[in-house]
Amino acid sequence: MNETEKPFIILSAAMTIDGKIASRDGDPDLSDEEDWKEVHKLRTEVDAIMVGKGTIMKDNPKLHIKYHNHSGYYRIIIDSNLDIPIKSNVIEFNPKLYPTIICTTESVSKERIRLFESKGAKILKSGTGSTVDIVNLMPKLYNLGIKSVLLEGGGTLNWSFIQHNLVDEIRLTIAPWIVGGSNAVSLVEGEGFSKMTESTKFSLIKVKKRNNYLVIYYEKVKR
Ligand SMILES: NC(=O)c1ccc[n+]([C@@H]2O[C@H](COP(=O)([O-])OP(=O)(O)OC[C@H]3O[C@@H](n4cnc5c(N)ncnc54)[C@H](OP(=O)(O)O)[C@@H]3O)[C@@H](O)[C@H]2O)c1
Repeated sequence: MNETEKPFIILSAAMTIDGKIASRDGDPDLSDEEDWKEVHKLRTEVDAIMVGKGTIMKDNPKLHIKYHNHSGYYRIIIDSNLDIPIKSNVIEFNPKLYPTIICTTESVSKERIRLFESKGAKILKSGTGSTVDIVNLMPKLYNLGIKSVLLEGGGTLNWSFIQHNLVDEIRLTIAPWIVGGSNAVSLVEGEGFSKMTESTKFSLIKVKKRNNYLVIYYEKVKR
């Protein structure tokens, strides 16, 4: 893939001290109000926010902005077979300000496509495998004018981006809890790399200490 035809990807997440982005029962409530304000500010600076199907199914987020003036952006959902409920907030809540693009595989049913298109969502197909081809998706998004994306998880989708070396920056909030649980979702899930040298290396660019929280910024070290 041509690096110039790829949106700039910022991975943004809040995690516990032990690296979990939700508790074992799926409680995602890690951020305080200050953190949300910062994340919403970041949302005003990008062309799109992206999440995986798991995050829609578990949290049903609106992916909107509460705290700042702005002119909207795309919400992008990665959902191989268009399984998310048609009544999801990303479909029903303010589609004019936040148009939704759902990225699927080629084999998604025509009936599901018609249903989602009738609600104003745009369907973008990428790949013939069992899950969405993220690498092939990058130029498609770029050609729609999406030059920057805030990747807001969850752990499974984060792994796909890390695996393919697609993350350019990271903004990570460390929240003051340890929740444990081998079934609690971690910042990055998936099969993982076998050696450190196979993984993407990041360089620390900023650390902010606020109340009981730590906010850490990294950028990718070019290979
Ligand atoms: N604290 C935070 O900052 C934060 C932020 C976001 C989410 N979360 C938490 O994360 C949890 C959800 O994470 P999750 O790992 O279960 O789900 P996820 O990463 O949101 O979504 C993963 C799903 O996306 C679909 N997908 C399609 N193509 C894919 C591809 N190429 N790579 C990866 N996924 C692909 C797959 O389902 P199909 O194949 O069926 O399409 C996959 O199971 C929730 O508990 C949520 O609260 C926390």
